[in-house]
Amino acid sequence: MSDKKYAPIAVELEKDKRYAWCTCSHSSNQPFCDGSHRAHNATPSLGFSVEEDKKAYLCTCKQTSNPPYCDGSHNQ
Ligand code: FES
Repeated sequence: MSDKKYAPIAVELEKDKRYAWCTCSHSSNQPFCDGSHRAHNATPSLGFSVEEDKKAYLCTCKQTSNPPYCDGSHNQ
């Protein structure tokens, strides 16, 4: 069992910009995809955008029920 602790990462998101949230945990650029899923034959990124500039807390534990946003599941 891993001792690694997960916590959301706060990011400033820009209106209408396309983002790719890492779903597989292999990215070195969390919480965003860096293409590492290809080498690991893992799940691809989740593309998303926002309708206004905003600060958001993006999930890094990949257990959220509301991807890409943290829903507190990392505490369970
Ligand atoms: S980091 Fe909070 S639900 Fe994943």
